[in-house]
Amino acid sequence: MARRVRMEPSRTLTEFRLLPGLTARETSIDQISLESALVMRPDGGVIALKMPLLAAAMQSVSGPRMGIELARLGGAAIIYCSQSIADEAAMVAKIKAHKAGFVEPRTVGPDVRLREVEALRRQYGFSTFPVVSQDGRLLGLITRRDYDARIHADVPAKERMVPRAQLDVGVGITDLEAANALLIEGHRAVLPIVDRDDRLLSLVFRKDIEDHLDNPDQVVDERKRLLAFAAVNTHDYETRVPALVEAGVDVLVIDSSDGHTTFQRDTLQWIRRRAPNLPVIGGNVITGEGFDYLVAAGAGAVKVGMGGGSMCITQEQKGTGRGLATAVMEVVAARDRHEAKTGVHVPVIADGGVVNSKDVIIGLALGADAIMMGRFFARMEESPTETVRISDRVMKPYWGEGSARAREWSPARYRQAAFVEGVEGFVEYAGKLRDNLPLMVSKVKSAMSSCGCRTIAELHANAELELVSALAIREGKVHDILQLGGEADSLSSWST
Ligand code: IMP
Repeated sequence: MARRVRMEPSRTLTEFRLLPGLTARETSIDQISLESALVMRPDGGVIALKMPLLAAAMQSVSGPRMGIELARLGGAAIIYCSQSIADEAAMVAKIKAHKAGFVEPRTVGPDVRLREVEALRRQYGFSTFPVVSQDGRLLGLITRRDYDARIHADVPAKERMVPRAQLDVGVGITDLEAANALLIEGHRAVLPIVDRDDRLLSLVFRKDIEDHLDNPDQVVDERKRLLAFAAVNTHDYETRVPALVEAGVDVLVIDSSDGHTTFQRDTLQWIRRRAPNLPVIGGNVITGEGFDYLVAAGAGAVKVGMGGGSMCITQEQKGTGRGLATAVMEVVAARDRHEAKTGVHVPVIADGGVVNSKDVIIGLALGADAIMMGRFFARMEESPTETVRISDRVMKPYWGEGSARAREWSPARYRQAAFVEGVEGFVEYAGKLRDNLPLMVSKVKSAMSSCGCRTIAELHANAELELVSALAIREGKVHDILQLGGEADSLSSWST
């Protein structure tokens, strides 16, 4: 006999519905915030998201383009670790270099020939180069408009630059609003920021500030750079983590289908020693015991779910797994016990099998702080794959991290893995994140409004859910009409 056989079947998110509460003026949609804790820092601080949605750490989902755009919209994409350390670090560096405010510029000396400036322009794609003295003092600014590469190739930068005296310069400015005010005042497109000794610190571009103001939810660090999230594994972390830290990573996510292991504990403890204030998300677990184990080892958040992913065959292959709703409920109960004991709220992330806005809201209502999705984000323009046409449908490829295709990046590593845990397929192309996420967000907010909850914390405290029957689920769909463009479905009969 097994140690324990649970006779209550485990449940999926799809099997629950929310019961509405009292909606009032204070809980109208425009009053609702989706801001949610994502991970605790070891020093007790919290990294929060304005939109608690995460793109999974998968080759077919989260590259730098997804990382940048999702962070600008308030969520987070986890750069996948099933690639070389150098490639993953380069992706993180690309996200951190994305201009969100104060830019560390590539500078040139006053005697550099404009031929070289032109070569740098082509190499880096920037067209504004501050000219600085050997000790870093600002001498001027040279932009694409100041020279003609054919005529001035041999002319030194100092002869064509706009000299320091003619520039508007911000001395010691650290906030974007103040920089913006100076840029507007001076009709300038770029503002060099210097210290009291006139040493160049950074550049602020007008178009970046506009971009920043257009994306009020974007998740940024104290220097207004987008946050970068990256996955690590329990094999090569001793070399991967330092490279990611060097590239500027803000949050690490340990990527494992079964995180309740001594390997994950060792990885967490090693990271804690080597990068003491770097937040780490552990997982995946599906029991309260697994949650307690990872938190004791230093996880600042825990990812929950096994076997439910849309391309996952773990349950079929190994018989391990659990319905996501049951896993989330059990882990959230452990999280709440931990919080009652220590006062620390360790965020829980529901992962695998979340299909649409309805699942997102049920997952959050059951106590998750954030929701991770693979398939949903693989369909977006910003995922790393190209669209393909299959008969008359536009699709994008999608494959599991445990599939044969994902393992191609390092055949040696998977030599002993005799079977795969994921498949490869296609998902319907959905267009840009920016065109899809607002709709998802408005549905989640609308549900929160119906439940009379203004915040995720209120949703956790006040949501009332009900398990529904299979027939009730069918009743909740279109039935007994012939829907335009759809199929007829009958609950009872068409005759009465
Ligand atoms: P989806 O949102 O239903 O597509 O599920 C995405 C989640 O599936 C990921 O975040 C992982 O937790 C999990 N996953 C990714 N690749 C595999 C795989 O190959 N086998 C099983 N689970 C996977």
